[in-house]
Amino acid sequence: MQIAVRALTAASALALVLGGFIPSLASAADTNASVLEEGKKLAFDRKKGNCLACHHVADGISPGNIGPPLLSMQARFPDKATLREQVYDATTKNPNTMMPPFGKHGVLNAEEIDKIVEYIYTL
Ligand code: HEC
Repeated sequence: MQIAVRALTAASALALVLGGFIPSLASAADTNASVLEEGKKLAFDRKKGNCLACHHVADGISPGNIGPPLLSMQARFPDKATLREQVYDATTKNPNTMMPPFGKHGVLNAEEIDKIVEYIYTL
């Protein structure tokens, strides 16, 4: 009897621990998915990033070709900070670029740039 009670207590303690743990994992995954989704929305939004005006992006409609297609970002930008700088202020790398300095000119705020960078880093 005593043992059965202990086993039950151990089982419910485990359930409590797992119960607290699993939902927090699930919500971390949700947050990540929604960051990527928002990043994509901002990148595609003609009044926000408008990246499609110049870049081909997977499943983007009517892309322009002034800039290179956005793909293999992780391979081309092993350091994510370099990619962020490209989006924040493309003139750092090329003062004559056609690409607008989104962060420097306040077209996108820091949070919006972070979301876009997270999204394009998956391309
Ligand atoms: C008006 C055109 C234009 C827009 C809008 C634009 N870009 Fe660009 N982008 C360029 C050009 C041109 C380059 C080529 C590099 C250069 O000019 O120095 C470039 C380069 C890049 C690169 C580097 C690619 C590589 O392989 O080296 C990234 C990343 C990038 N753009 C991301 C973005 C994102 C994200 C957006 C939207 C928030 C965006 N661009 C909007 C014109 C644009």
